[in-house]
Amino acid sequence: MRLSTALLIAGLSRAAAFTPASLSTNVAHKSALSVASVRPETSSPAASDDWSPESWTNAVAKQMPIYEDQEELAGAVKELEKVAPLVFAGEVRSLHEKLARVSQGQGFVLMGGDCAESFKEFHVNHIRDTFRVIMQMSLVMTFGSAMPVVKIGRMAGQFAKPRSEPNEVIDGVSLPSYRGDNVNQEEFTPEARRNDPNLMVKAYYQSAQTLNILRAFSTGGFADISRLHAWNLDFVEDTAEGSRYRKLASKVDESLRFMKAIGIDTSSPEFTSVDFYTAHECLLLPYEQALTRQDSTTGKWYDCSSHMLWVGERTRDLDGAHLEFTRGIGNPLGVKVSDKCTPDELIRIINTMNPQNIPGKLSIIVRMGAEKLRKNLPELIRAVQREGKAVVWISDPVHGNTRKTDGGFKTRDFDNVRAELRAFFDVHDEMGSHPGGVHVEMTGEDVTECTGGVSSVTDESLKERYNTACDPRLNGSQALELAFLIAERMRLRTGLPSL
Ligand code: PEP
Ligand code: CO
Repeated sequence: MRLSTALLIAGLSRAAAFTPASLSTNVAHKSALSVASVRPETSSPAASDDWSPESWTNAVAKQMPIYEDQEELAGAVKELEKVAPLVFAGEVRSLHEKLARVSQGQGFVLMGGDCAESFKEFHVNHIRDTFRVIMQMSLVMTFGSAMPVVKIGRMAGQFAKPRSEPNEVIDGVSLPSYRGDNVNQEEFTPEARRNDPNLMVKAYYQSAQTLNILRAFSTGGFADISRLHAWNLDFVEDTAEGSRYRKLASKVDESLRFMKAIGIDTSSPEFTSVDFYTAHECLLLPYEQALTRQDSTTGKWYDCSSHMLWVGERTRDLDGAHLEFTRGIGNPLGVKVSDKCTPDELIRIINTMNPQNIPGKLSIIVRMGAEKLRKNLPELIRAVQREGKAVVWISDPVHGNTRKTDGGFKTRDFDNVRAELRAFFDVHDEMGSHPGGVHVEMTGEDVTECTGGVSSVTDESLKERYNTACDPRLNGSQALELAFLIAERMRLRTGLPSL
């Protein structure tokens, strides 16, 4: 996100009002007129008169916290309607263009970050280290595959979490489930578990700080390719992956020296800064609605909370509120799909989220575990090919591979993550489609949350540094190992020898 792109757009105005009355209906009832089913496939969301930032309130909104005090909610939303946008339409469009190229087979998307951001874990070093691993992974993948890598952080807004149970019961006491730091608090007390709309405002301000830091890192010298050795994290340095990275970094150094020698200016922005984008799950709709603004140059609505938003596996119902909201915004979108999604359902989701079949607009983020993926992904791809839909296929090899240990830790085995990624590449090879990206929960810290991989975390050592606020994350060396795997597979596809 080079700052100059922010200047490309003129002022953003917020036209639609958000009333407490519209909020009170959000969980309870479904509109008699299902907007998704009556809208012609070719209509433009920007031009459609039946969509507005709050039209989602007429549909069933799954996974939405119930706020006791509607006035308090309306107050928080009102405050958010006045805050500055976190991202700008020009930046969003530049991401869209990059994703369009990926959908045509030119490039690879790398999405990564915490399962859930938290207030407690917030620190500039935490952001720096995650950014650093993303840079490292991206260097391995770009150099390895000779393809542009589109870098997107699950950051600056990734707070709200879908839960399998609305309530949590401990020793016979039932309290509302923890739904992320922008909804309530993790501590198991009635006060902490109260859904507090003001936490949305707190999350906004933390996201603003995170974005500020990310903008500084991506353009202020940290991402300068000549610093590629400095991206290797201390705790990764001594591992096999760390030394593999060092070797690759030396090769890149050599290429840079060669470029300099033949007169290429390696101090130009292409070498010294990166375009870095943000994304999060579009779950907490009052927050997303409040940050949705109309771009005065195009008249289009953009959700200015993030460059890209995705709809999760649990909220992607065709007539649900999350598809209703996302169909009207101009941002690139994603949708998570497990083995529960049929080819017919997927086509209908695509028709709703990207009715004009615009390349780069929609990414299908597949998360089903290796075995189910080998069985189910071919028919999803076949349906997309048959219907001539332009999508970016992204593998999320972590969410279909979660298990609980005997010691009660939620973890993921790195072998299973790797197996799912391999299956993703195999299926695309067979189908002649483009494996367009990867989406992982990871951190730059030396956590022990996922077992296996070069870092050889075991069920027993999980407790050492198990810090996540939600799902287990890959640590720096596990993430780097995945990047090498991806680079090797991309090389194989283009006939390049192994790294
Ligand atoms: C997530 O990405 O954190 C998540 C909840 O994913 P999914 O919707 O795929 O379960
Ligand atoms: Co998760």
